[in-house]
Amino acid sequence: MPSPAQVPPPRTPAEWAAYYQLRYAVLRQPWQQPPGSERCPADDEPTTVHALLLAEEGPNEAPVALAVGMLQRTDAHRGQIRFMAVAPHAAGTGLGRRVLEHLEAQARAAGLAEILLHARESAVGFYTRLGYAVVGPSHTLFGVIPHFLMRKQL
Ligand SMILES: CC(C)(COP(=O)(O)OP(=O)(O)OC[C@H]1O[C@@H](n2cnc3c(N)ncnc32)[C@H](O)[C@@H]1OP(=O)(O)O)[C@@H](O)C(=O)NCCC(=O)NCCS
Repeated sequence: MPSPAQVPPPRTPAEWAAYYQLRYAVLRQPWQQPPGSERCPADDEPTTVHALLLAEEGPNEAPVALAVGMLQRTDAHRGQIRFMAVAPHAAGTGLGRRVLEHLEAQARAAGLAEILLHARESAVGFYTRLGYAVVGPSHTLFGVIPHFLMRKQL
């Protein structure tokens, strides 16, 4: 099977801003969460992998994120995919798949054997399509978003 196309991490301050802005807009703002709530300590760990797909922009325009995701290494054998988000106007066009498959490839390259993640109920179908199995119910975010623990062997 050919390896999926690389999805680079943010490289400039403007790209990092676009990266976190998409996280915030998709995963935090709709629930009135404060700016900054889209970040976590694992973002800065050296083994964390960030992935950012950018829109095509002119040379002098600010970068705009279309899809983002991150892989956190949780122990020697396992990783966790977190903060997957696709811009609403670009959803359903394969960008989420590209980000997820890239992060899985990075996990394999790092020698990880398994990925665990906490999926929003509305995203369980996406992860199922990409080969993840539901382990069981997980937490409820902001008191209203049920999550399910899901797992995939790499
Ligand atoms: C969930 C999300 C990351 C999926 O990304 P996406 O770019 O829209 O998905 P893709 O277009 O890559 O879809 C890949 C496959 O999964 C399927 N799929 C996508 N979302 C799905 C869903 N919610 N339910 C069932 N299947 C879904 C697609 O039909 C496609 O199937 P195909 O291979 O047969 O064509 C994106 O819609 C999103 O950001 N949602 C809001 C935020 C969110 O819930 N993030 C996850 C937090 S755990």
